[in-house]
Amino acid sequence: MAKYRIAWMPGDGIGKDVLDATKIVLDRIKLDAEYIPADVGWEFWCKEGEPLPARTIDIMKETDCAMFGAITSKPRTIADKELIPQLQNKGYIYRSPIVRMRQLFDLFICRRPCFAYPGNPLNYKEGIDFVMFRENTEDLYSGVEYYPVPEEMLKVKGMERVSRDAAISVKVNTPRGCRRIIEAAFDFARQRKRRKVTCVHKANVVRATDGLFLEIFNEVSQSYPEIQPDEANVDSLCQWLLKRPHDYDVLVAPNLYGDIISDLCAQMTGGLGFGSSGNIGSEYAVFEPTHGSAPKYAGMYKVNPIATILAAKMMLEWLGETESAEKIERAICRIIEEGHVRTYDMGGDASSLQMAEAIAAKC
Ligand code: NAI
Ligand code: MG
Repeated sequence: MAKYRIAWMPGDGIGKDVLDATKIVLDRIKLDAEYIPADVGWEFWCKEGEPLPARTIDIMKETDCAMFGAITSKPRTIADKELIPQLQNKGYIYRSPIVRMRQLFDLFICRRPCFAYPGNPLNYKEGIDFVMFRENTEDLYSGVEYYPVPEEMLKVKGMERVSRDAAISVKVNTPRGCRRIIEAAFDFARQRKRRKVTCVHKANVVRATDGLFLEIFNEVSQSYPEIQPDEANVDSLCQWLLKRPHDYDVLVAPNLYGDIISDLCAQMTGGLGFGSSGNIGSEYAVFEPTHGSAPKYAGMYKVNPIATILAAKMMLEWLGETESAEKIERAICRIIEEGHVRTYDMGGDASSLQMAEAIAAKC
């Protein structure tokens, strides 16, 4: 029996391309793992009305963690039309499978490193090195939504200006949800000897939910006296990140702001081909690139697999295979620095698989 069982979820579009590439590197380091293929994504919504089938949830329950490629998601009105005719008008509701698995498995941390690998021609500036901790289960992504608005809700104080034909998405931040992501950010800073944690919010306007997030941040920070607490409004942070990226170290944000800011941060450190994510709970974790399914490149083995290989590296750290994780990161550093093998986004013409093979050869 293998030491680890890993759910293997390519999903849609380039998800398969980048996972195939990543497997080359995992095989090279001889990870003692069994990879269990699991269905997820748009294809299964269209055919079965369920983008995260029950059989996949079962596989997740009996594995140590998952590697996830990417999925295609579409707005409700389009999603409904792409269901097979037998399922249309039967009350099936499209929900993003990645958001759902984060909630089902309580993967409350979304960790996204933003590191400018030296010599990467796509770096916005050299020397950028910070890590985003995004809350991953609540906030505007809680799935508490109304359209149309139920009559009883309109009677609640404060709802006078809302009409029945409005659409409402509720932003839900709980003290427990805020506390555990903020503690995770500070614990990480302590372990890695980082000097500063910045709280991302908009508490001057979004007073209840972001106010709570900031309040708990201020309280938690007192237990970490060696780490400098810092806070910023999400809008002004965007300009500061571009102006003074070296000032940032660890960022912690509620779900939506974290989602948006992390694409900006990915772009500062090489683009979506370099952004990796760990969706981490206390029992289970799902590792994935930050990017989506990029349908126009699907199956062409053209996109950069480094984001996904870095996600696999994060998985190895989480599993405790730190030596293998370091080996992979060193290999990626060398490939980037040497610059002989580059995918299209880096100005080269190597395929996803050639890039993975070059990295594997240096491991
Ligand atoms: P996307 O991230 O799929 O791609 C945007 C563009 O970024 C691509 O056209 C390509 O130019 C570039 N890109 C992405 N990955 C790359 C890579 N590995 N190497 C080089 N270049 C890369 O975002 P888009 O086009 O907005 O969304 C496509 C689909 O993906 C949508 O259905 C969206 O809902 C879904 N999506 C899924 C995510 C997930 O699975 N976690 C996350 C984001 C979007
Ligand atoms: Mg995103």
